[in-house]
Amino acid sequence: MIPIVYDQLNRWGKDDDFFLSLLQKLNIKQLADLGCGTGRLTVHFAQQGYEVTAIDPNKEAIEAAKSKEDAGRIKWMVGDSVALETNAYDAVIMTANVAQVFLTEESWQQVLADAYRALKDGGHLIFDTRNPLAQAWIAWMQDDTPDAAVHPDNGDPLEIWTTYEGLEDDIFTFYETVKNAQTEEVVAREKIQLKFRTLEVIRESLQEAGFSEVRAYGDWEVHKATTRSKSFIFECMK
Ligand SMILES: C[S@@+](CC[C@H](N)C(=O)[O-])C[C@H]1O[C@@H](n2cnc3c(N)ncnc32)[C@H](O)[C@@H]1O
Repeated sequence: MIPIVYDQLNRWGKDDDFFLSLLQKLNIKQLADLGCGTGRLTVHFAQQGYEVTAIDPNKEAIEAAKSKEDAGRIKWMVGDSVALETNAYDAVIMTANVAQVFLTEESWQQVLADAYRALKDGGHLIFDTRNPLAQAWIAWMQDDTPDAAVHPDNGDPLEIWTTYEGLEDDIFTFYETVKNAQTEEVVAREKIQLKFRTLEVIRESLQEAGFSEVRAYGDWEVHKATTRSKSFIFECMK
């Protein structure tokens, strides 16, 4: 996540509409947005009237989030799932594949345990993650053209170049480099790693963490997940 270009590269999508409408169906007052990033979606949660706590370890992203309209309604925290309060939320949500940043089994079990602890009885954990069987990285690696953005501070044109290391142990590694399009000066560079877990592995880990009702959708039209789905969207109840 490179905050200066993140929102420009990740525009509003069907996934965002899905998360908003799913929350509307549940009886939510207190919501925790874990891995909120730049608050791209978080501010919309607050605008829906939820009392939102938003947590992300990326300090620069939280600073960017705080400058958004209606950001003042949200409790922002730099941190991770350990910072979640206990028995405090009707839902904990992780959007835009945050679930894939947890590379080890220990870190994945920790975030599920923290989410479970943080939810009130009957509360929901909601997140999306990509299906390893859909092999999204094959299409990613075929795209060798840079993305374009502008620097939010000075309007300079930027290019975002992605280079790929590949998949090892179900972890896909790539690098994003943001350059000034005119001077080629490197403005930011980040290594990104994403863990791909199967439907069954995730289901089991949720059950082990204590979640009872576990629903898995396979697209943004609320169809049931199958091994052919591109993504899985989980809705689990404490
Ligand atoms: C793809 S972004 C998603 C941001 C946001 N949820 C959205 O919908 O735009 C992934 C986010 O996960 C955050 N992240 C990385 N490690 C994390 C951790 N241990 N706990 C919570 N979030 C983490 C990153 O800082 C980044 O903001």
